[in-house]
Amino acid sequence: MAILEKHKILEKNITLLSIFAFLVVTIGGIVQIAPLFWLENTIEDVEGMRPYTPLELTGRDIYVREGCYVCHSQMIRPMRDEVERYGHYSLAAESQYDHPFQWGSKRTGPDLARVGGRYSDEWHVDHMRNPQSVVPESVMPKYGFLENRMIEPTHIEDLLKTHRLIGVPYSEEMIENAAADFEAQIDPFGDYDGLIERYGDKVNVRNFDGQPGISEADALIAYLQMLGTLVDFSTFTPVASR
Ligand code: HEC
Repeated sequence: MAILEKHKILEKNITLLSIFAFLVVTIGGIVQIAPLFWLENTIEDVEGMRPYTPLELTGRDIYVREGCYVCHSQMIRPMRDEVERYGHYSLAAESQYDHPFQWGSKRTGPDLARVGGRYSDEWHVDHMRNPQSVVPESVMPKYGFLENRMIEPTHIEDLLKTHRLIGVPYSEEMIENAAADFEAQIDPFGDYDGLIERYGDKVNVRNFDGQPGISEADALIAYLQMLGTLVDFSTFTPVASR
């Protein structure tokens, strides 16, 4: 019997067709899903990656709360136009500590995966107060109110613990010092040695919004200014081409 004839039997018998369709979908499903059970091997280890500092993590929560992701993605695709505009394509490792991740395909505004260090803190303050003052045609809403909302690290230890629960490698020491590290990051005249020791010397320590106290704008700008800056792409080579 020719193969076509055999296939006709399948097509005409609903039970057989269901069984075979189920088998095919099952195999396809396993092939796609199984590697994720070994996620540790799926994401290559990349030098420079570290968990967010307490202040950055707080800023990230504000970013999510305000729905910045509705207009901004954080995922540079490996295509020439994107790489030329935004920089090196995003690595899986760069969002390994993101819960929830901020990829996306909706770009009303530019991708922000590598916006860290592209502008000064003052630019961000002006841009958040009134985006049209720096980019006249911008449709981005104003977020100036964030400067007036003061924050305290009351729940910061719990926040770090929650992230540890879902796999972010916060150490006992990072959790114990969360509140101190939170405050240390906006005070360049204070004692921030511990913060640097725990999170590395790339951590930005500044009064981000230029005003006394710690505001939501401080946290959000601290987060924006580190985005995409952890991996040094002048020395990075993907595992596959090593
Ligand atoms: C309604 C859509 C919209 C929302 C919501 C939005 N933005 Fe934007 N954003 C834009 C647009 C459009 C631009 C490009 C023009 C400009 O720079 O203002 C932009 C630009 C930016 C830039 C400059 C990027 C670059 O590379 O020049 C940053 C940083 C930024 N947004 C941060 C944020 C943050 C943080 C939030 C949330 C608090 C946010 N945006 C919410 C639309 C949006």
